[in-house]
Amino acid sequence: MRHFLDLHTTDAGELRAMIEQARAMKQARAGRPRGALDDDQPLSGRMVALIFEKPSTRTRISFDMGVRQMGGQTMVLSGADMQLGHGETIADTARVLSRYVDLIMLRTFEEATLHEMAEHATVPVINGLTNRSHPCQIMADILTYEEHRGPIAGRKVVWSGDGNNVCASFLHAAGQFGFDFTFTGPPTLDPDPGFVAGARARGVRVEIERDPVKAVQGADLVVTDTWVSMHDPQSARERRHNQLRPYQVTERLMAAAKPDALFMHCLPAHRDEEATSAVMDGPHSVIFDEAENRLHAQKAILRWCLGV
Ligand code: CP
Ligand code: NVA
Repeated sequence: MRHFLDLHTTDAGELRAMIEQARAMKQARAGRPRGALDDDQPLSGRMVALIFEKPSTRTRISFDMGVRQMGGQTMVLSGADMQLGHGETIADTARVLSRYVDLIMLRTFEEATLHEMAEHATVPVINGLTNRSHPCQIMADILTYEEHRGPIAGRKVVWSGDGNNVCASFLHAAGQFGFDFTFTGPPTLDPDPGFVAGARARGVRVEIERDPVKAVQGADLVVTDTWVSMHDPQSARERRHNQLRPYQVTERLMAAAKPDALFMHCLPAHRDEEATSAVMDGPHSVIFDEAENRLHAQKAILRWCLGV
C-alpha cells in the first residue's frame, strides 16, 4: 500500500521519480485546453475521494482536474457533511470508504486523523494538508524551482516567517532533495525541533537566524506563508502580526538574497502582510507557477500511489 503522507517518510528516489514524471506529463500536454484528456488514461475506472475538513481552492481544484485529465472520477466531500467527527471513528470511516473508492485524499486538522485513516484504509491515502505538514505543496515547489533554475540540490532555501506546516514539509524535503535550509522568524514560532533534528540527522545544513537580512544572504529561494494558518486561533492574530512584521518579505529583503533568487508562497496570501505585493508580482516571484504545478506534481503522486 503506497500512502503519500509525508516527504521524510517517502523514499527519496521515488520522490525524485515523481518529480521527473510530473515534468514529463506537463510537457506532454503543453498547450492543450485544461479539460482535455491526457493521451494515456492511467486512472481510467478509478474513483478518488477528495475530503476537506478545512477550506481549499488549489488543492481541491488541482486534484479534481488532475484525476479527470488522467481519465478517473472524483467525489469532492466536505468533512462537515460526512459523519467524520460526529461519533463514527476515523477507522470505521476508512474501512467504509475503502469499499467504495480507489484512493482517499484527506485535508484535516490533526496529523493523527490522517495516520488513522491510512492505517485502516485498504486503499492509498494522500495528505492534502494537516496542521503539521503539506507535502503535496512542496512537491509542486520543487518542480517549480527546478523548471526555473535547475537542480535544487545544494541550493540554499530560506523560510521567513511562521515555522508552520508548509515550513515543516520544506524541512522534510531538504533531507530528501539535498538542499540547505535556513529559518528566520521569532523563537516562539520556530519549526518543530523534532523536524529540525530529523533534517540534521539526515545531513541537512539547517540554520536558525533571527536577523532576516543575514538569513537571506546567499539565498537561492526565499519562501513565506500566511502569518495565521487555518488551525491557528484567531485570538493569536494580533500577537503573531506584531511578532512577524520584521520578517515580512519586501523588495529590500529580496535584494539581500542572490540576484537570481526566486520567491515562493503556497497561497492563499494576505497581500502586504507576509510579503509585499511588489514582491509577489515582482521579477523573483513564481507564485502562480507553484499553483499550476500542484496539478502536475499531484498527477505523479496519484500515479505512484495507485501504481499506474
Ligand atoms: N496552497 C494550498 O494548499 O492552497 P489551498 O488551501 O487553496 O488548497
Ligand atoms: N499554512 C497555511 C497553508 C495553507 C495552504 C494553513 O495551514 O492555513
